[in-house]
Amino acid sequence: MSINQSPFSRELLQWYDRHARALPWRVPPAERAAGVRPNAYRVWLSEIMLQQTTVAAVKSYFERFVNRWPEVGHLAAAPEAAVMGEWAGLGYYARARNLHACARTVSERFGGEFPQTAAELKTLPGIGDYTSAAIAAIAFDEPAAVVDGNVERVVTRLLALATPLPSAKKAIRTEVERLTPHLRPGDFAQAMMDLGATVCTPTRPACVLCPVRAHCRAAAAGTQEQFPVKPPKAAVPTRKGAAFVAVRRRDGAVWLRRRTEKGMLSGMSEPPSSAWNARADGATGAGAAPFAAAWRLCGPVAHGFTHFKLDLEVWRADVDADPPIDGWWSRSADQAGEALPTLMRKVLKSALADSADSLS
Ligand code: ADE
Repeated sequence: MSINQSPFSRELLQWYDRHARALPWRVPPAERAAGVRPNAYRVWLSEIMLQQTTVAAVKSYFERFVNRWPEVGHLAAAPEAAVMGEWAGLGYYARARNLHACARTVSERFGGEFPQTAAELKTLPGIGDYTSAAIAAIAFDEPAAVVDGNVERVVTRLLALATPLPSAKKAIRTEVERLTPHLRPGDFAQAMMDLGATVCTPTRPACVLCPVRAHCRAAAAGTQEQFPVKPPKAAVPTRKGAAFVAVRRRDGAVWLRRRTEKGMLSGMSEPPSSAWNARADGATGAGAAPFAAAWRLCGPVAHGFTHFKLDLEVWRADVDADPPIDGWWSRSADQAGEALPTLMRKVLKSALADSADSLS
């Protein structure tokens, strides 16, 4: 064994030699050891496809792309619409446009050969820190630190890192730099990914099968599932606004209108309310009413949306005439059939409970 291999990388690579996943873009470790080099075009294509997508979803797309465009020059010469068509269903379509732009850059500026260092690769469209390091390590054996989500999870467990992500990223990178061997850095990167995908899984990691368990602080303490530590959920803001319930004196009907087609609760029905949304308060107070009437305050209504809490003042006025704004009267018997969101049902309930002078 080479003197520059630490016990960690030696044990991980021995495991990889026996358990590497067979993937269509990968040169298996035995062939790699026999001198077969991975094809940079295939490595690049797979890494772009694997961003935000699973190995299972990518395999068939990868096969179709390399059958149709076996080399980077073929992809560069393809019409963009054809590339987008083959990509359809993989999502994040900016990736496909960058893919095509990158193929053209490699063909036109680099003579059809991918540059061989992470630093140069990073200058290409769609290639950032992770992808440049992955290609440089896998295709060109540069000992670059390859850190994806799987690797982050593995390392936070190895170190039992109490710092939550994303603050922990710097410490994780430093550790991956320290662990990455100068011999077989590409296999090492892929071994870390395979370990994260098959053993050191997000839930119920299979620590009994782990080749580097002896190096893992979390496993020693039995706390592996507590890592990575997630940051506390961001506090949700509270927005304010006001809703105005006009009640027809003669039959208790309420005046409703349709919300616009854009924004929160679009197209739903409501008693008129001020223009609140997730990022801005709506106006409050009787002065925010859409028409003049003897408004009286009935109560606050609180409602939780995913990204914010809304406190609505509920104002009520008892009227005889139709309000001078678009809308319709909705009698209580009809209200079950209205497209009223829960929030607006709460508003009506609050206003109609306050019947001091209308239904007496
Ligand atoms: N996920 C992203 N890149 C990968 C690779 N080269 N092998 C396995 N899983 C991956």
